[in-house]
Amino acid sequence: MSATAKKTAPMAEDIRARKGGEPLVSLTAYTTPMAQMMDAHCDFVLVGDSVGMVLHGLPSTLGVTMEMMILHGQAVARGLSSAMMVIDMPFGSYEESPQQAFRNAARLMAETGAGAVKLEGGVEMAPTIAFLVKRGIPVMAHVGLTPQSINTLGGYKVQGRGTAGEALMADARAVAEAGAFSVVLEKVPASLADAVTQAVPIPTIGIGAGAGCDGQILVVDDMLGLFTAFKAKFVKRYATLGADGEAAIADYAREVRARSFPAPEHVFGDDAPEGKA
Ligand code: KIV
Repeated sequence: MSATAKKTAPMAEDIRARKGGEPLVSLTAYTTPMAQMMDAHCDFVLVGDSVGMVLHGLPSTLGVTMEMMILHGQAVARGLSSAMMVIDMPFGSYEESPQQAFRNAARLMAETGAGAVKLEGGVEMAPTIAFLVKRGIPVMAHVGLTPQSINTLGGYKVQGRGTAGEALMADARAVAEAGAFSVVLEKVPASLADAVTQAVPIPTIGIGAGAGCDGQILVVDDMLGLFTAFKAKFVKRYATLGADGEAAIADYAREVRARSFPAPEHVFGDDAPEGKA
């Protein structure tokens, strides 16, 4: 490889090979500018179905459609060159049968260029994961708190506490055996996440699962302080872009009302030099 060769995006097998190594870095993205900002810093970027809540104002991820995922996936793809893109399968697009899952996963990958899909579920989704992987679709699994199941889980609760830890361990083992190349662990006690990370041969990607996982992911709007409807305990805000943006908009409104914007430097005169706008 020449010194000037461009870094190419990792593939699912490159992510799998990072098990036990330097922690994998990941964020969600939904737009081209956000994807451009994180491309050089993340190993993979997830076009998450959290897009429904953070960009579309939906009360949960349940209303997210294939069309929404494809539109945002295409936007994110335009902003990435060195990070891998993974895309979420929305609620209702894969649970019915492995065939339904294949049809929709293939469409997501073909129409967005994503390198893998992510779907929620453990033991019950293992046959579907195996079906997809055998047919050329890399799958990232997602166990623990699975937001598409809030109506059966009874809300956004910590998962796997006490004896429920055994079922969560079984879920993680099942998706790994089915061929998933990595697994997201959401909102589980750190000690359980550590035990799962030791037990499975694929990278664990934590969100609310402690520092012992093989990698971390956050929703970008949460960590930038853009989504402020609520803040989960596991979110660290690295910026306050929502508050900063509102303050900037308030300044603009004040200046427009006071006629101090636009100022002379923003205004065109009659006598522009030849050839200048
Ligand atoms: O949709 C999403 O943002 C996710 C992450 C929380 C992992 O699934």
